[in-house]
Amino acid sequence: MSYKEKLVKDRMPHHVAVIMDGNGRWAKKKGNARIFGHKNGVNAVRETVEACGELQIDYLTLYAFSTENWNRPKLEVDALMKLLISSINNELGNLDKNNVKLMAIGNIAGLPSNVHKELNQAISATSKNTGLSLVLALSYSSRWEIQEAIRQIVVDAKQGKLSENDLSSDLISSYLTTSGIPDPDLLIRTSGELRISNFLLYQIAYSELYFTDTLWPDFCKEDLFEAIYNYQQRERRFGKTGEQINRH
Ligand code: FPP
Repeated sequence: MSYKEKLVKDRMPHHVAVIMDGNGRWAKKKGNARIFGHKNGVNAVRETVEACGELQIDYLTLYAFSTENWNRPKLEVDALMKLLISSINNELGNLDKNNVKLMAIGNIAGLPSNVHKELNQAISATSKNTGLSLVLALSYSSRWEIQEAIRQIVVDAKQGKLSENDLSSDLISSYLTTSGIPDPDLLIRTSGELRISNFLLYQIAYSELYFTDTLWPDFCKEDLFEAIYNYQQRERRFGKTGEQINRH
């Protein structure tokens, strides 16, 4: 029996977030350059988007490029930016046909202008779609996001739009780039690394974490179904006791 068949419909996560890791190692194992791994990583992105569509998941957030990734060799950064543009171009028709709404979080204005332009066009072209929201985290890091949120809160407080009594967890969430997006229920990281690497730190307070040794380019639909099956076996308590959760 495949994992997909074992899934329970009314316990689907609403939001799955993924740290796509292991492209470089996958390429190296095959005796190829790192960018070969990134190119093959696009197939895993397609598989994951399709699988989320099949399960009618609301949000899929992919960590596609971190603030720290700018420190990689220029050749790799340039190749990744080129790959982003070509992937958006190649996949846009398919995404739109499948009712996928493209969104982006991160320092989007800081991306090269051609990437920025292409991304914005794809975001507006799919803005009316009502199926899966595919959120690309680009030039994103949590510490950057939290710093920007605090900066804006200070500005608004100085202008009298906010007072210290207005501060709440929801208010802080509304200043993050993920404003309006529910927190992830499930966070997946591939390639065997057991780290969060500056990703959605505020938003994953109660997310279930799932780590797999599979390298990202090898990640396929059945891997996603397995992760969700694993998630469905867990009891989410949000700080309460098991008895409180199971009392109906
Ligand atoms: C991490 O692997 C992967 C990245 C930094 C880039 C992810 C990008 C893609 C999968 C392609 C484009 C994405 C979209 C959404 C079209 P790594 O390079 O850190 O691998 P390593 O740890 O083995 O070196």
